[in-house]
Amino acid sequence: MENKHRIEVMLTREEIAEKVKAVGAQITEDYRGKDVMLVGVLKGSFIFMADLVRAIDLPVELDFVSAKSYFGTTSSGVVDVKFDTHLEFKGKTVMLVEDILDTGKTLSVLKQMLLTRGAAEVKIVTFLDKPARRTIDIKPDYCCYSIEDRFVVGYGLDYNEQYRNLDYLGEVIL
Ligand code: IMP
Ligand code: MG
Repeated sequence: MENKHRIEVMLTREEIAEKVKAVGAQITEDYRGKDVMLVGVLKGSFIFMADLVRAIDLPVELDFVSAKSYFGTTSSGVVDVKFDTHLEFKGKTVMLVEDILDTGKTLSVLKQMLLTRGAAEVKIVTFLDKPARRTIDIKPDYCCYSIEDRFVVGYGLDYNEQYRNLDYLGEVIL
């Protein structure tokens, strides 16, 4: 079956790779001598996480939680979270790794959940930031690219579960 949408390239795989390496190097510098736990938000973060973790030169633990708030191109506003309840966050520096910070609902729910479960500090690392869409006061600690209010796909991000496998970032032209 063929995909029906026109996708316009916004960031090439080379541009993405360079930026992710730089953010990984920055985290390495900022957290030198410390242990960090990276927690990816599924499914969107899986490719970013795979690249980011290899750009960080620190002892890291890695895990994933699953959160869903979107259907098509609209935020449902309800965040459905699933995670392994055996995960131990107590006293840890946890970095939430996300594909995109949009309204902020998903990450504010997850951040609060990790603090409630004893994390010493929770940092936000996002591949993309769409500040114009924010409804909750939350900012990324690390961000690769800030973009305008466009619906984007590829590099892990989907439109109705399609296009996650594109190795570039593209805008969906509806
Ligand atoms: P928030 O809770 O509104 O910040 O939503 C964040 C989630 O919405 C992200 O993890 C994505 O799954 C999804 N999302 C937001 N904007 C886009 C987009 O442009 N393309 C694909 N998914 C998006
Ligand atoms: Mg997501």
